Amino acid sequence: MKSQTPSLEFSHFPVMLSEVIKVLTPSRGGFFVDCTFGGGGYSSEFLKFSKTKVVGIDRDPSVILIARKIEKKFEKRFKFYQSKFSQIDQIINHKVDTIVFDLGISSIQLNNMNRGFSFKSNKKLDMTMGLSDLSAEKVVNSLNENQLKLIIKILGEEKDASRIARNIVKARLEKRITRVDELVKIIEKSKKRNFSSKINPSTKTFQALRIFVNKEVSELIYGIIQATKILKPGGKILVVSFHSIEDKIVKYFFTNFSKNKSRPSRYLPEDSNDNTALFEKYANKIIKPTKSEIEKNHPSRSAKLRHATRSQNQFIYPSNFIKKFTKYLNLEAINV
Ligand SMILES: C[S@@+](CC[C@H](N)C(=O)[O-])C[C@H]1O[C@@H](n2cnc3c(N)ncnc32)[C@H](O)[C@@H]1O
Repeated sequence: MKSQTPSLEFSHFPVMLSEVIKVLTPSRGGFFVDCTFGGGGYSSEFLKFSKTKVVGIDRDPSVILIARKIEKKFEKRFKFYQSKFSQIDQIINHKVDTIVFDLGISSIQLNNMNRGFSFKSNKKLDMTMGLSDLSAEKVVNSLNENQLKLIIKILGEEKDASRIARNIVKARLEKRITRVDELVKIIEKSKKRNFSSKINPSTKTFQALRIFVNKEVSELIYGIIQATKILKPGGKILVVSFHSIEDKIVKYFFTNFSKNKSRPSRYLPEDSNDNTALFEKYANKIIKPTKSEIEKNHPSRSAKLRHATRSQNQFIYPSNFIKKFTKYLNLEAINV
């Protein structure tokens, strides 16, 4: 990893790599799609096994250089596309064995203060992962108080959303909010002091703005649907998520579109002949990082890994999945 990136500050430590390898068994070979290439940690590991072919996808232009180096080394087995993973069907037009998503931002993005993801930054309020025409600056200076409140409350699960939204609108009447540290000050002023809290007062508002700027909920929902569409029967889809909205979405999809989807009554037998289920029986088991990984790599502490196996059934578009999460989709669709 380190040798592929310019410096340690701009490298990414792949989360739960050994658990991912254990589930996906690249030693058996097959066609892998790494939908969140990042620092290339997962892709590089898959490529260590000579019978694998890998496609890497990432929306971030800053990882293209890392990807091109890997393409040169594995000319016949690796190809990278800068794209959003919701558009995977426009990149791959055949069935594949394995698809992996490692959601959120990488340390390459977080540690680059110019990107505006870290609340330690005093640079421009950007928060764009790439391939987005929005910025957090545009969002905080353009939306009305109620829209800001809903975004911070629903996408950030922030209980002080009303006060934060009110103070953002108040502050921007005096001067446009352009820098990260200016927003951090407004949030800190708005939050009740809670000295026992281990999380930074800005964490949830930053999460909300980042999700909104990059349309992360829509990306996840349409991304995992497209991925399921191109998975071979018996193929595996694996998602590592980092916050509760992501995990709720993945859990709902794997559970409700599997052969053991919730029954109207638990006294009714499971319908194992269900010919609409997209996945085999789903165990609803989360894999978490070990204590020693968390000690070595603090950002891994909130990671949750889920995986499901594609059934033999034909792909039927899961419209009810989209309906279930319209609250989030409508919120992300607010015009700025
Ligand atoms: C946590 S990092 C992945 C790290 C990677 N597994 C590794 O080992 O280096 C997440 C990456 O996914 C990318 N990403 C997030 N959402 C995306 C989307 N909708 N489409 C494409 N890439 C996305 C981000 O730009 C970031 O580089």
